[in-house]
Amino acid sequence: MAIERTFSILKPDATERNLTGAINALIEKAGLRIVAQKRIRMTREQAGTFYAVHKERPFFGELVDFMTSGPVVVQVLEGENAVLKHRDVMGATDPSKAADGTIRKLHAKSIGENSVHGSDAPETAAIEIAQFFSGNEIVG
Ligand code: CMP
Repeated sequence: MAIERTFSILKPDATERNLTGAINALIEKAGLRIVAQKRIRMTREQAGTFYAVHKERPFFGELVDFMTSGPVVVQVLEGENAVLKHRDVMGATDPSKAADGTIRKLHAKSIGENSVHGSDAPETAAIEIAQFFSGNEIVG
């Protein structure tokens, strides 16, 4: 299995509760390496571009409001099968449906304030990583 990269966000509900370290520990325990990381405040433009695929969904406005409401930590994660591995450790989007031991089961507040984002495929990961990181910021 080739080494893969995925994109991760620790969302405002997580930074607000000082959960960066706790979530990073779960990510690392799952066998993923954090090869780039920065704490930023997303602009409305950045959030709108990032979530453009959800533009027509009824929750789009709420999603942009939430993602710009506080600091987020954007990350690049690396490892074998990184996209799927990260999705497994995040758990289901809706925390009430997330498996025991997953980040969302342990920490998410609701389907909207669900603590973390992860890419859904390697192709999406490449696009999402490029929105927030330049090549020399990623150190594998
Ligand atoms: P994320 O993986 O970041 O991708 C899209 C986000 O939209 C998702 O996590 C949720 O936080 C959010 N989302 C999905 N469904 C809903 C919903 N029904 N209400 C509010 N937010 C939602």
